[in-house]
Amino acid sequence: MTDNIYQSLLEKLTALHQEHLLAHWDSLDSPRRMRLAEQIHAIDFVQLSRLYQERGCLFDVAPLAAKAQEPPAFRLEHDGNTIGNTVGNAISRQDAIQAGRKALSEGQVAVLVVAGGQGTRLGFEHPKGMFPIAPVSGATLFQIHFEKVLARSRQYGNPIPFCVMTSPATHEETVDYVAENRRFGLAEADVITFCQGTMPAVSLADGKTLLAAPDQIALSPDGHGGMLAALKNNGVLKELSARGIRRLFYFQVDNPLVDIANEEFLGYHILAESELTSQVIRKQSPHDRVGNIVSVDGRLHVIEYSDLPDAVAERRKPDGSLEIWAGSIAVHVMNLDFLERQADNAAALPFHVAKKKTPFVTPQGDLIKPSEPNAIKFERFIFDLLPSANNAAVVEVDSKRHFAPLKNASGSPSDSPETVRKQVSDYYAEWLIKSGATVAPAAKVEVSPLFALSAETFAEKVAKNGMTAVTADVCFR
Ligand code: UTP
Repeated sequence: MTDNIYQSLLEKLTALHQEHLLAHWDSLDSPRRMRLAEQIHAIDFVQLSRLYQERGCLFDVAPLAAKAQEPPAFRLEHDGNTIGNTVGNAISRQDAIQAGRKALSEGQVAVLVVAGGQGTRLGFEHPKGMFPIAPVSGATLFQIHFEKVLARSRQYGNPIPFCVMTSPATHEETVDYVAENRRFGLAEADVITFCQGTMPAVSLADGKTLLAAPDQIALSPDGHGGMLAALKNNGVLKELSARGIRRLFYFQVDNPLVDIANEEFLGYHILAESELTSQVIRKQSPHDRVGNIVSVDGRLHVIEYSDLPDAVAERRKPDGSLEIWAGSIAVHVMNLDFLERQADNAAALPFHVAKKKTPFVTPQGDLIKPSEPNAIKFERFIFDLLPSANNAAVVEVDSKRHFAPLKNASGSPSDSPETVRKQVSDYYAEWLIKSGATVAPAAKVEVSPLFALSAETFAEKVAKNGMTAVTADVCFR
């Protein structure tokens, strides 16, 4: 029986120049042979081969970069507290807040976090969401996010569905962790965990698919853009739609400062009749390492910093400010009907190439752990939905108050556990100072989302307690 399977696999793989995947067949027992055969059947090798052939030109940004202009935007004014906009002057900050509140009161909003990444740079042996990041309590990223969703739903007296996208690399541990912690107070019906798809890693040198083990193809998550197909394939879009959801607030697991379902942000999106609205930060210099959101022929696109030609990145407006100023922080709000429309064509999102160090097993059975990138991974990115969205716009936020991504290992100069904790503590210290207290420079400050979601609510609560001077670490819960 397995002889027949072997023969048919060999024929198929030989035609595709991938027969090395069967090099260990003789040493595998029957269940392991079946496991390998299933993986081989699930892979579209023709697509993989095409992607490898076209790897140098999968995403040609040159024509876009040549025509790039600044996007329609709701912009922070210089004091960081008022907003001016190029979308329609009729939309004021107050109008936006009202529209956001209305959507939340009517139960139109769900929240989604993408948590399927492998977190290789951080070097943590669990899903990144389980990383203890809060500066005083040591709460994990997941705890912070779950409590923000819970606090927002309590505020509006409406359950907010919280969708958690995992990948095969993070699924089991995430599900167990969330269950062990009783979903941090969210109801079972309001947590929707679903798993994204994978793509095989191929050798950079010759496009051959890599084996992670004799019976295991090297598979990795298919990028956060895999969310679109995964939402559809797992029935999540249908479920949300049946619950009356119209907007999805999207963010990445590694940012503890994300202001989940912020009313003002939701409101600009709604009033501008946008299908996809993104939070952006103002770039400090032309070559900041963020994705640039630009407008080309009336449609928005993201151009990665590495793809933006210097001459375009350095263009300035008459007032001296950068023309390409909007850096994406991967916080979006998307309409559900837009996602439903796009999901029918989820395969249309382009693939991007990432060169990675990927351990692999040779046909001789040696496990190689490369010190230099040896493999290509193909990934889809969610921001490639932008050009398809009608009336897409951006909302500028203050980087230090909204964006503290945990990317790098302890000791790194930026985006490390230490720098992120400091930024979070500084952010909450600002709330204390605004409420009239003084904070000793060495004191770390943390505010649980269940205590307050905004500086204003915090000030009201703290005023009642009469807090004036903080001299030691403090956590408000
Ligand atoms: P990154 O691209 O920063 O990747 O993901 P990462 O996994 O966190 O870290 P490295 O690059 O391996 O060091 C940004 C966000 O997208 C999610 C991640 O979980 C993170 O929230 N993501 C990324 C997915 O959900 N799926 C993917 O396939 C890739």
